[in-house]
Amino acid sequence: MLSCQKHLFSLPESVHYLNCAYMSPVLKRVEEAGIEGIRRKRDPSAITPADFFEDAHRVRRLFARLINAADPHRIAIIPSVSYGVATVAKNTRVGRRQNIVVAHQQFPSNVYAWRRLAAETGSTVRTVEPPDAATRGEEWTGRLIAAITRSTRVVALGPVHWADGTRFDLDQIAARTKEVGAALVIDGTQSIGATPFDVQRLEPDAVICAAYKWLLGPYSIGLAYLGERYDRGTPLEETWMSRPGSDDFGGLVRYRDKYRSGASRYDMGESSNFILMPMLLAALEQILGWGVEEIEAYCRALTADFREEARRLGYGIEDDAWQAPHLFGLRVPPGVRRADLQAMLALRGISVSVRGDAVRVSPHVYNDAVDIAALLEVLREAVATASPV
Ligand SMILES: Cc1ncc(COP(=O)(O)O)c(C=O)c1O
Repeated sequence: MLSCQKHLFSLPESVHYLNCAYMSPVLKRVEEAGIEGIRRKRDPSAITPADFFEDAHRVRRLFARLINAADPHRIAIIPSVSYGVATVAKNTRVGRRQNIVVAHQQFPSNVYAWRRLAAETGSTVRTVEPPDAATRGEEWTGRLIAAITRSTRVVALGPVHWADGTRFDLDQIAARTKEVGAALVIDGTQSIGATPFDVQRLEPDAVICAAYKWLLGPYSIGLAYLGERYDRGTPLEETWMSRPGSDDFGGLVRYRDKYRSGASRYDMGESSNFILMPMLLAALEQILGWGVEEIEAYCRALTADFREEARRLGYGIEDDAWQAPHLFGLRVPPGVRRADLQAMLALRGISVSVRGDAVRVSPHVYNDAVDIAALLEVLREAVATASPV
């Protein structure tokens, strides 16, 4: 079992940071890698053509390991989830009267591109609502499966809901998606790095992931796994680096319309970012060094008693079986105003987020029992000072 890893970060002592779903704090080693990346440009003569490709390939390899993808060439380097989803949407055929299935209130980066595709093709976005209950994961999964029909061309969602951590049963959803021949497009931003994810088991068509949350990386870079369905697609940008032989800088104007094989055709321009890429590399090394199962187990152990106690106090929390240990929503009891609770939390230096009707708590290995006790104390106080209902 991991012990608390706070010493590897630079979080201020005065802050109880339970908000990795918003943005991870930077690891000291990731910060150093970024600074080193800036310094590197002091002497550009030391930056070789190979350097444009090598760290990127290391990052592809580590991310492939993280999601158990057999081939690192299936990983593309992207700036954001919206870019990754737009890439996939551009290369997915949907016809009139067909549909794209998404979950209610999922993160906009995995919605807008589908809305555009639907508007352009006369298809529809089918949004699947959750049941009106605090424990809703199982039934929501059932509703998603029921919504996937022969006229579904895409199922786009995350393993957990970004706002409150409701877990979807992706095995069942993937099986149904495959049965109807639709594309399964996963936004892994709020779970990959914190819970195990297995591409070989799930066989999704695309997995898209921003780096700045559970991959502990910097902002403005992300990674996407693209399956065979997208092997011959058209990228959003026509970059020179995605061409075969582009590491021969003397021959760049022998233009080649062909792309490199694999997913690197979808890489963003200037993907060999000399600051962000080494930071992401250092972050992935650390995550794999700890082990994702261990991160998950740490978050589970840290919050198990807390969840029980919060339920006892009247806060609505999903069943543990349908909720991620690293990201969960609290729905306030009657009489407690969310705004008051938020103010009390801020006063104690407790950083969480309010998303939709849930107070979202998202711990990581830098949190300890003191952080959780501080949160619990405020939850108790909010109940004790609630207005009568
Ligand atoms: C589920 C999910 N996907 C994606 C993002 C970020 O998207 P983008 O990289 O397009 O800004 C977030 C940010 O909160 C998120 O929660």
